[in-house]
Amino acid sequence: SMIRHYKFNVVMTNTTKLCSSKPIVTVNGQFPGPTIVAREEDTVLIKVVNHVNYNVSIHWHGIRQLRTGWADGPAYITQCPIQPGQSYIYNFTLTGQRGTLWWHAHILWLRATVHGAIVILPKLGVPYPFPKPYKEKTIVLGEWWKSDVEQLINDASKDGTAPSASDAHTINGHSGPISNCHSQQGYGLPVRPGKTYMLRIINAALNEELFFKIAGHELTVVEVDAVYTKPFKTDTILIAPGQTTNVLLTANANAGSKYMVAATTFMDAPISFDNVTATATLHYIGHNVSVTSKKTVLASLPPQNATSVATKFIKSLRSLNSREYPARVPTAVDHSLLFTVGLGANPCRSCNNGVRLVAGINNVTFTMPRTALLQAHFFNIPHVFTDDFPAKPLSPYNYTAPVNQSVNAATMKGTRLYRLPYNATVQIVLQNTAMILSENHPFHLHGFNFFEVGRGLGNFDPERDPKRFNVVDPVERNTVGVPAGGWTAIRFIADNPGVWFMHCHLEIHTTWGLKMAFVVDNGHGPDQSLLPPPADLPKC
Ligand code: C2O
Repeated sequence: SMIRHYKFNVVMTNTTKLCSSKPIVTVNGQFPGPTIVAREEDTVLIKVVNHVNYNVSIHWHGIRQLRTGWADGPAYITQCPIQPGQSYIYNFTLTGQRGTLWWHAHILWLRATVHGAIVILPKLGVPYPFPKPYKEKTIVLGEWWKSDVEQLINDASKDGTAPSASDAHTINGHSGPISNCHSQQGYGLPVRPGKTYMLRIINAALNEELFFKIAGHELTVVEVDAVYTKPFKTDTILIAPGQTTNVLLTANANAGSKYMVAATTFMDAPISFDNVTATATLHYIGHNVSVTSKKTVLASLPPQNATSVATKFIKSLRSLNSREYPARVPTAVDHSLLFTVGLGANPCRSCNNGVRLVAGINNVTFTMPRTALLQAHFFNIPHVFTDDFPAKPLSPYNYTAPVNQSVNAATMKGTRLYRLPYNATVQIVLQNTAMILSENHPFHLHGFNFFEVGRGLGNFDPERDPKRFNVVDPVERNTVGVPAGGWTAIRFIADNPGVWFMHCHLEIHTTWGLKMAFVVDNGHGPDQSLLPPPADLPKC
């Protein structure tokens, strides 16, 4: 193993897209940002220098951060932000993971433009559990606003109204031609006939779950969230913000042919989604190409409400669970939690119709602290958080109540954490309340991967449903879609001491409070404690 050094200069960069220009926050002037490449077991040191007027912090999404919670990055959770003119070195070791992950800013809505890929290669000499691809390409899906993204968050947090939808989706920074800007170039993906490619696909969009598709080609899914899966073929990928998916693509057409690549919204919310499809082109290169003017084969896209396409994809996901890569699913459960997740309405005198939208887990709207929780935990600073997060909702009710029926939707504010002893086995049933809007919530847990042992529609039934849990080869990941009008059950082992954020990866919902955190105690053995903070840890 080796040490890999990176330098991330956070700077303002003037950028032209959709026929208009604006300054955006970038790392090293790039959008998407630079790719981090390392091998399993390497140590990565990234010096982040803040040259902008915003506070900054960067999260390495999906990296376990075993005992190195100080490098996890969510602002006010594991660190105070890096202030203008300051820097911080994120220092972590890649343990037991290989595949595609990504990094993004974890403060305000800066991650709209501050994000990039992380490629963790297997240890030297260790092959993939599938035929070695001829080449690998990173595909970062994003969203683009013509207006200032940091303004959107203010609108969203003021009275809980939805911010305006993005103006386009992007594929590696390019939207492709859209109706009001035809000169916008699309991303080009060159391939050679007969070769197999691996695409490392990342959904870095703020608020949109996406379908991804390449006309005329099947994709073989081999990995999600840096965990190998049982390979399966599909013509459409479903990918939520926060998730990553590796697919194999066999280039089986002739030199000169062109196929449309598309990323389009899976309509999970009836408001504020944009319906602009990002397009790119898969084009075949090679010798003796006489006809370069061949027409691009268009992709037929699933409709935005194609729940059946989404469900089929999700149901096909299984851990590889081979001898080399066993699925270590916890079979006993020490902490069985039921979390209702969804939007609610709180009374609000100054708001338009007397209520404001809030989001909550078990009726708690998480309030961001002013001191980083990990510091408060490590140094025993009082009055920053309480560890009384409820293990179940306040009172039972019918979660499949009709949309807009405001039963038990009020929330209370709090910086409340749930405490887990080291090595506890945890099951969380995430029940989508679907009370205000019927939509999916991609839930992300920091510090751990989890297994998705079950999912269903309607109300979770604690008697019947666990009997059908898959504890053999469930998909293992770090971000899971909690289905609209349904639930999902996840399991993990709390073997990573520290403070770990869990939240909906739709940025608008995080802003409204759809988040909470776990505090995991130190163990008693050697190597079971959080390491001390680095000397350059930012101060609040
Ligand atoms: Cu990718 Cu807490 O985020």
